[in-house]
Order: sequence, then C-alpha cells, then structure tokens
Amino acid sequence: MKRADVIGTGRLGKALTAWLAGGGWQVDRIVSRDAARARRLAKRLGARRGQGLAEYRQPAELVFVAVPDDALAGLARRLAQRADEWSGKVVLHASGALDASVLSPLRELGASTGSMHPLMTFARRGRAPLPKEVVFAIEGDRKAEQAAFELANAWGGKPLQLRPEQKPAYHLAATFASPMIVVMFALAREQLRRSGLNREAQGRAAAGLQRLLKQTAANLGNGSATAAQSAWTGAIARGDHETIRRHRAIAGPSRHVYDALVANAERLLGTAGAKPQSRSKDRDLGNDG
Ligand SMILES: NC(=O)c1ccc[n+]([C@@H]2O[C@H](COP(=O)([O-])OP(=O)(O)OC[C@H]3O[C@@H](n4cnc5c(N)ncnc54)[C@H](OP(=O)(O)O)[C@@H]3O)[C@@H](O)[C@H]2O)c1
Repeated sequence: MKRADVIGTGRLGKALTAWLAGGGWQVDRIVSRDAARARRLAKRLGARRGQGLAEYRQPAELVFVAVPDDALAGLARRLAQRADEWSGKVVLHASGALDASVLSPLRELGASTGSMHPLMTFARRGRAPLPKEVVFAIEGDRKAEQAAFELANAWGGKPLQLRPEQKPAYHLAATFASPMIVVMFALAREQLRRSGLNREAQGRAAAGLQRLLKQTAANLGNGSATAAQSAWTGAIARGDHETIRRHRAIAGPSRHVYDALVANAERLLGTAGAKPQSRSKDRDLGNDG
C-alpha cells in the first residue's frame, strides 16, 4: 500500500487524512507541532501514528503539507534541514494562492514539489465534504503533478491543471465564491439585528436567509455566465431604483459594500432595469425576490 504523511492538523489536514485513508493510502503519520494532539488525531482519523513536528524524520513517499499559506516557506526551510531525506519524495501543499516554488528548499534536495488545491471549503464544524467531484487545482513539476492527478482520480475528483502565474486570480475567484459569501451572510444577519425584530423572529428569518442562499446556489446551476445571468433576481436586476435608494439610505455600516455591489452588478450582469419583460413576468408570478 502507498504511504503518505500529512503535516498540519487543521481544517484541511484532518479532512485530507481521512480522504487518503479512504482512498487506499496508508497514512503513515499525521504531524503536528503538538505531538500529543497528533497522537490523539491519528487514532481518530485512521493514521498509523501521530508525531510532533520536532521529531519528524524519514518522510513517506508522499508528504501533504496542510499549514497556513504564510507558514509554508518557513516550514519548507525547516524540513530541508534534514537534508538527506528528501530525494525521490513527492511533496504537495494545498494552497490555492501559492505555487510549488514555495517548496523550493525541498526541491533543491531532490524532492518533487507541487500544489494540489481542493476547490472546496473545510470548516471547523459540520460534515467534512467528500473528495468525489471536488475540483483539484494542480501545478508543479512532472512527477508531483502526476502524483496529484492520480490522487484526484482515485478520489473520483476533477483535476484542473494550472500554470503558476494563474493561481493568484484563480484563488481570488474561490475567495469570492466562498469566504466572501460568509461575509455577505454576516452582513445580512447584521441587517436583521438592525431591523428591530426580536431574537426569536431573527432566528426564524436567519433560517429563511440560509434557505434563500441554498436556492440561490442551486439557481447558479453549472456556474456558467448564462446561469449567473438567469439566477440574478432582486431590485437591481429589476431596475427598482426606489428600492435601491431605500436600501442605500438604511444600509448603515454596510453602505459602502452595497454601493460597490450595485456598481459591479451593473458592470458584470447588465444595466439596472435592462430587462423590463422579465420584470413584468416576475410580478405576474408574485415573485418579488
Ligand atoms: N480550510 C479550507 O477550506 C481550505 C480549502 C482549500 C485549501 N486550503 C489550504 O490548506 C492549507 C491549510 O489551511 P487550513 O484551513 O487547514 O488551516 P488551519 O485550519 O488554520 O490549520 C493549519 C494547521 O497548520 C499547522 N500550523 C499552523 N501554523 C503553523 C506554522 N507556523 N508552522 C507549522 N505548522 C503550522 C497547525 O497544525 P498543528 O497545530 O497541528 O501544527 C494548524 O492546525 C492552506 O494552505 C489553505 O490555503 C484550505
């Protein structure tokens, strides 16, 4: 059985350890700066053992590094201090923004290096997503790319090859589609608090917002520009200028966000009020989304 180590026990490291074990890989070690934590997690996630980073020696044939982007360069330098251990190994990191060059201290010692970014969100709570059908953005040297493609295919995922210079914009796209949506949701909840609804009513309304978000994601279908155009509803899409004016007047701390979004909606999805036909049809159906 092929063997892999996972370094980092955060949101992604935990999911990766479970994914690798479920994909026919033996996770030899899960590695943490805190050895006791690593041992606890190894038991829970099906790794052969847990180990502290300070004691980490003799890496497996594949090492997956799942630490914050800003810690990658320092970690690569630290790992490269054990100079004789890296020749022939494959080291992948999971950053969407950084390319393989951040692992260059290990590459200089003979390791193959690459990045494999799951285009997915791994949160502290909730069920971890399954790798099946996740898009994996891959770049690196030939051997590292090959290992990443094999891994993505073994999981039933969808590999996507990128060039290093394409990663920052690709990652910004992912940032708009997930973490920024969570910020949007926080802004929506803030407006519920400002509305004067009591706590119980706010809770019910928040559950309604979550349902609205789910339906919006479903309406976006395959994510194409056409799907986005037909998913677009609401005051800006209808050209309801009075409603937009009222929103702006009461937006309070999110006024600048609202204004920026109106400007970008018009830039990317069309001019406000450009679709009078769909406007009257929506009204006939009583759809005031
Ligand atoms: N979360 C996501 O949705 C997601 C999605 C796609 C890609 N990624 C990528 O996955 C990587 C990890 O992200 P994450 O969300 O899993 O982060 P995270 O939850 O913050 O976990 C990172 C882990 O790295 C270790 N760590 C933190 N600082 C370190 C340092 N200075 N040196 C060495 N190890 C350190 C810690 O584990 P120990 O305490 O055990 O050492 C920490 O739990 C990032 O490159 C990120 O871009 C994340």
